[in-house]
Amino acid sequence: MLNITISGVTGRMGQALTRLIAEAEDLRLVGGIAAGARSGNDARRLGCEHIEAIDDAARALEGADVCIDVSSAAALGALVAEHAAALRGRALVIGTTGFDDATLRVLAELASDSPVLVAANFSIGVHVLARLVEDAARLLGGDTFDVEIVEAHHRRKADAPSGTALLLAEAVAKARGVPLEEVRRDGRSGRTGERSTGEIGLHALRGGGVVGEHRVLLLGERERVELFHSALDRSVFAAGALHAARWLAGRAPGRYTMRDVIGL
Ligand SMILES: NC(=O)c1ccc[n+]([C@@H]2O[C@H](COP(=O)([O-])OP(=O)(O)OC[C@H]3O[C@@H](n4cnc5c(N)ncnc54)[C@H](OP(=O)(O)O)[C@@H]3O)[C@@H](O)[C@H]2O)c1
Repeated sequence: MLNITISGVTGRMGQALTRLIAEAEDLRLVGGIAAGARSGNDARRLGCEHIEAIDDAARALEGADVCIDVSSAAALGALVAEHAAALRGRALVIGTTGFDDATLRVLAELASDSPVLVAANFSIGVHVLARLVEDAARLLGGDTFDVEIVEAHHRRKADAPSGTALLLAEAVAKARGVPLEEVRRDGRSGRTGERSTGEIGLHALRGGGVVGEHRVLLLGERERVELFHSALDRSVFAAGALHAARWLAGRAPGRYTMRDVIGL
């Protein structure tokens, strides 16, 4: 039996995870973390005996083999800063996006004692897309093909561009041998002037209930290539996160990615 604590257990992703855990015979939810503590029926509705606020997160982590974090950048930052001791030694599956460099540094430190997987997207399809994008960007050179990435998400998403759009932009930058920060261009407005060669454009659409769409356009003078992924249901991410949790538990300490899990 694999014991799991979910940080962000009351959110959209958290609830998608609790539904799948309830159906799985090899998984048990041992605790939850959210912005506000819940007990009684409010917690049991999500399959938890108790849900703790960040201050008491260590209590929610007791007995967990794996902690899956799908909360917010602020909550993840507070969790790793204030409860590193309680997290140490447990497998960490981080799905939260938009967190800062300080959080990334603590996660890197934790990886000396824990297997740590950070994934802006838990779907297999997106990682296959990233691989195809890398190949396409290498084959269709930056001098002749301009890359623009357009993503769309539901109106409640807190960060932009999405972590997945950045992952895809990284794939392009890697293929072209340039640091992303030097060529990234987020949106365009006003008198922008001519597009510079090698730029990677990132554009975020927000609205309605869109689960997650990413389109990578490679635009030449006389032809264009488009690569597109659409998540049809949030459960694709939840299933991927649980697949990653099963794969990660018991591994040696260190940093892992979804590409390791999928074998890409
Ligand atoms: N990797 C992937 O495949 C993937 C897929 C989808 C989403 N995501 C990411 O997962 C994260 C969550 O997305 P979502 O749509 O599920 O968000 P959501 O519905 O807004 O849920 C956020 C969760 O985090 C908790 N939370 C927020 N602020 C907190 C704080 N300061 N302290 C403690 N807990 C806090 C909320 O608790 P309360 O209910 O108590 O407010 C809730 O449980 C986002 O970063 C999103 O980008 C990743």
